[in-house]
Amino acid sequence: MAEDNFESTLNTHYGRKGLGDRIIAALKETGKDLDAITADDLSPVAEFHIGGQGATLQLAQSAGMGAGMRVLDVGSGLGGPARTIAQHYGCKVTGLDLTEEFCRVATMLTELCGMQERVVFMHGNALDMPFDDSSFDLVWTQQAGMNIENKLRLYQEVHRVLAVGGRLVFQEVLCGPETPLHLPVPWASEGSMSFLRPPDVTRDLLAQAGFREMIWHDVTAQYVDEYRKLAAQTADPGGPPPLGIHLILGPEAGQMRRNVVRNLEEQRIVLIQGVLKKA
Ligand SMILES: C[S@@+](CC[C@H](N)C(=O)[O-])C[C@H]1O[C@@H](n2cnc3c(N)ncnc32)[C@H](O)[C@@H]1O
Repeated sequence: MAEDNFESTLNTHYGRKGLGDRIIAALKETGKDLDAITADDLSPVAEFHIGGQGATLQLAQSAGMGAGMRVLDVGSGLGGPARTIAQHYGCKVTGLDLTEEFCRVATMLTELCGMQERVVFMHGNALDMPFDDSSFDLVWTQQAGMNIENKLRLYQEVHRVLAVGGRLVFQEVLCGPETPLHLPVPWASEGSMSFLRPPDVTRDLLAQAGFREMIWHDVTAQYVDEYRKLAAQTADPGGPPPLGIHLILGPEAGQMRRNVVRNLEEQRIVLIQGVLKKA
């Protein structure tokens, strides 16, 4: 698929209009004071990956984050991970995402919790990043690579924008030993949007791009149960709690989450956290 076409497919998939309004309405329904919102309050809807904010904090612990670090979040979505690491570790974070609506809502949510001095969002493609060489100390990315076919170019771009000795810190869904994938899933309504590679291929590509592996951690088993509960909650007759990822996924949320559970249980997908160093 040509890149322009793919951008529009991605924007249709993720960027359903009115998302900001739906989130504000849900926050009001939970009784939150809109003048006192924190990154943690927003995490149920803004941490759009398996394991939610818990997985972000787990990954950050092994990543060697530090105050004042210049961090780039590739595929930053609604900015949940960016705000979490800025709030918990004192980093300055730039988020880059190809879905325009996500960038708009991420900026609005960041202003809502008064973090706009530390966290900013830009619309752009991870395969052609609008940053100079060596601009960041750390590149963070959680579950964005599944939509990106040209992994080598992605890793080369990450390598380019990292300072020497900088780290790539990621959580990614990779292809398990069984195929095909049950669809739809939260990152793809159809197969042509999902580009999963097996762990060994991914590791080779990262090495080819110039990365040295420090941590490679298969966290699939750790998060299956939690995701099962989330899927059950989405199907609950009373409906899920007001603030959640279903606000992004829309009417297919239940089916998508059930499919993630099946894909995890049947080893069609695996969840990996990793830390790599720019050699
Ligand atoms: C499942 S969401 C994860 C969002 C966020 N990382 C999180 O964990 O909350 C995947 C994100 O990757 C973004 N994405 C996919 N392909 C991209 C690309 N080529 N460049 C930038 N962002 C991309 C999508 O727009 C989407 O926001």
